Amino acid sequence: MQTLIYVFSGTGNSLLIANSIAKKLPQSKVIPLVDLLKTSLSPKLEDVNIGLIFPVYFYKMPAIVKRVLEENLLPKSKTIFCITSSGEETPNVIYDVNKLLGKNGSSLAFGKSLSLADNSIILKTSLVQRNIALNELDLKIDEIVQHIKNMDHIPLVAPNLWHLTLSPLTKFSFIHLYSAQNRYVDSSCINCNLCTRLCPVENIRNIDGKISIGQNCEWCFACLNWCPTQAIHFGKIHPHKTQQYHAPGIHSSQLSHRK
Ligand SMILES: Cc1cc2nc3c(=O)[nH]c(=O)nc-3n(C[C@H](O)[C@H](O)[C@H](O)COP(=O)(O)O)c2cc1C
Ligand code: SF4
Ligand code: SF4
Repeated sequence: MQTLIYVFSGTGNSLLIANSIAKKLPQSKVIPLVDLLKTSLSPKLEDVNIGLIFPVYFYKMPAIVKRVLEENLLPKSKTIFCITSSGEETPNVIYDVNKLLGKNGSSLAFGKSLSLADNSIILKTSLVQRNIALNELDLKIDEIVQHIKNMDHIPLVAPNLWHLTLSPLTKFSFIHLYSAQNRYVDSSCINCNLCTRLCPVENIRNIDGKISIGQNCEWCFACLNWCPTQAIHFGKIHPHKTQQYHAPGIHSSQLSHRK
């Protein structure tokens, strides 16, 4: 059976997971999640498996994923699975996805929270931890692929109450640190337009050679992490080259939303 894997990714961890699954799963296709917002009607396909892969922000799903689920934009399927990528394991998000699917009469067949590396600049994952996570990834992918092939339905783990408490606290401190009102590009910008191509929601524009960051941010941090001159600043956060992160083996062109 065909598997359509919808992915949202700023710095490539989620895309790495999606590509690794697709490599081991014949008849599978990786599709940018944002494409679901571009078509007015989602395809009515009953006989496909649907995958949803995305990063975790503030112990929650990204707003764009929430919108896709609330507006019921995923193609119909009996087997929907969800994989999240994050700095640490965050099982609550899978639970939240299942709840939203439930409102439209659907449910998750299974979900998995994978920890890879944190891309939020201030909470950098050590190289040792990153390598451990990468080394373990292959086995976890094999397990996920097997679940998809078997069309397994696995009960979800109960929410972690500590993470429920942490979520609003992290969001509050991040919004303060990475202030949406004080985001700017400094004079080291070389006008390469990489940030405008990477922004999944067209929140960065090049107006007559000047890069401008809008207010419609998804918090994916693609722009902060990929800018070749570290010219982008979010509030109190001024990324240094050594703090920038992107997933190993993923090239920016694979995440580009515009030519
Ligand atoms: C704004 C923001 C908030 C984040 N919040 C969390 C979090 O609450 N818990 C966590 O484990 N990782 C968190 N992360 C880390 C990302 O979930 C992680 O790096 C993810 O794998 C990035 O995926 P991507 O490379 O596909 O964009 C956050 C990252 C950003 C940019
Ligand atoms: S990625 Fe950086 S250098 Fe390139 S246009 Fe954007 S801000 Fe300028
Ligand atoms: S402005 Fe930057 S962080 Fe916000 S959505 Fe666009 S690329 Fe992502």
